[in-house]
Amino acid sequence: MEFSTKRGTPEKRAAPCIAVGVYAGHKLSAAAETLDRASKGSVREVVRRGDMEGKLGSTLLLYRVPGVAAERVLLVGLGDEAALHEREYREAARAAVKAAQETGAGSVTLCFTEIRVGRRDSAWKALQVALVAAECAYRFEYMKSKKSDPRPLANIELLAAARDAAAVARGLRQGAATGAGVSLAKDLGNLPGNVCTPTYLAEQARKIAREWKLELEVLERKDMEKLGMGSLLSVAQGSRQPPKLIVLNYAGGPKKAKPVVLVGKGITFDTGGISLKPSPEMDEMKFDMCGAASVLGALRACAEMKLKLNVVGIIPTTENMPGGAATKPGDIVTSMSGQTIEVLNTDAEGRLILCDALTYAERFEPEAVVDIATLTGACVIALGHVASGLYSNKEALARELLAAGDEAYDRAWHMPLWDDYQEQLKSNFADMANIGGRPAGSVTAACFLSRFAKKFDWAHLDIAGTAWKSGKDKGSTGRPVALLISFLMKRAETA
Ligand code: BES
Ligand code: MN
Ligand code: ZN
Repeated sequence: MEFSTKRGTPEKRAAPCIAVGVYAGHKLSAAAETLDRASKGSVREVVRRGDMEGKLGSTLLLYRVPGVAAERVLLVGLGDEAALHEREYREAARAAVKAAQETGAGSVTLCFTEIRVGRRDSAWKALQVALVAAECAYRFEYMKSKKSDPRPLANIELLAAARDAAAVARGLRQGAATGAGVSLAKDLGNLPGNVCTPTYLAEQARKIAREWKLELEVLERKDMEKLGMGSLLSVAQGSRQPPKLIVLNYAGGPKKAKPVVLVGKGITFDTGGISLKPSPEMDEMKFDMCGAASVLGALRACAEMKLKLNVVGIIPTTENMPGGAATKPGDIVTSMSGQTIEVLNTDAEGRLILCDALTYAERFEPEAVVDIATLTGACVIALGHVASGLYSNKEALARELLAAGDEAYDRAWHMPLWDDYQEQLKSNFADMANIGGRPAGSVTAACFLSRFAKKFDWAHLDIAGTAWKSGKDKGSTGRPVALLISFLMKRAETA
């Protein structure tokens, strides 16, 4: 999908298809009004006759509208003007792109930057259009023997007022880079566990590093042994697949500037280990590396946007399998930090690989560390599939990430990390247990991680509910790549 900015008036734009908004209550958007005038009232007539009521997400395609240079005019329902917020704007843009995809037009010109969305500026609107368009264009067909026919729609143009053109172009550029990062994360998430192994993730990281000129280091089992990563290795020992610790370095900032470190959970399949999960929906545990995928997607986007920031990505990756050498409930392991952990449930493995990765992050003297993990079913119960759970040991960092999520429409919700919860992790035999019982399961998982994040500003995103969709639309969402990129862009601006 290619994106571009176009100036000029809508009626003169000689495009295969031009899309304009219509509000509920027979109200035309400014662009629709312009087309109406050029066509001597033919747009308003369609609306008056009840063929386009302006219902949010509805569309109507008109051919050869007199006085209009474009071959097709696509009317797009915007719903109630007063109720048009971020979600509605995205839905209207999605409807426009989807309808354009159903036509033979290879290109669509959207008159969508003029639509008022609270205080959102044109750059925001352009970024969102690019993101939504990338979403509409996304297909995952690597594993199908027959691919669907390619859609003709390859170009999206945004019509912009002269004073807005630069902002729109910037928004589209950022949106395209973000969209590519999101699609990369989705691909990795959607690939099955027999393809997307730790070794495969390391190979993909190598590909990204080569293409985008990032520095890459992959630590093998013996390297982790030397570092004393007993916790991470205890998860890997039940699997035939060798674990990896992938370290990617994007150096876009000044040499001396401390990096932001992103840590992504990379369990390429989570059977639960000896604490085996029940069979129904176990296939979904191929998505347990979506945190890792989001780190790769975000780093790719950083490089594409040439952000002036240093970012390190750390991905601990392994399968969680119940092999003969697997960790057993009650086993006690020693983490790289020296703290000992009683593994009461081998299915609470995410925190076991993340804790060693967090300790490893210390060597980069990070400005901030953000880990991203499909960590707990309890987070899905708490927040559903709408918000990611956000925890932090630093209020200002939490606020930054919340704002980034709002900006990107990839939202998170701030959860408590109070010491009162730490008690639940008490072990009779080791420094701590790896589970804290059923109450507040997402909180106690975060509390566990916080014990390995004492030396830096740290935040944790529990994306168990947001990283993929179940049911008939089963598939990876690419979240929270957009949140992460928004966060990093802001940091790069203010650094
Ligand atoms: N990967 C799962 C978390 C998960 C569960 C994500 C369901 C999405 C949907 C994680 O490794 C896990 O199994 N967590 C356990 C922790 C428990 C044993 C304390 C859980 O949530 O049940
Ligand atoms: Mn698990
Ligand atoms: Zn898991």
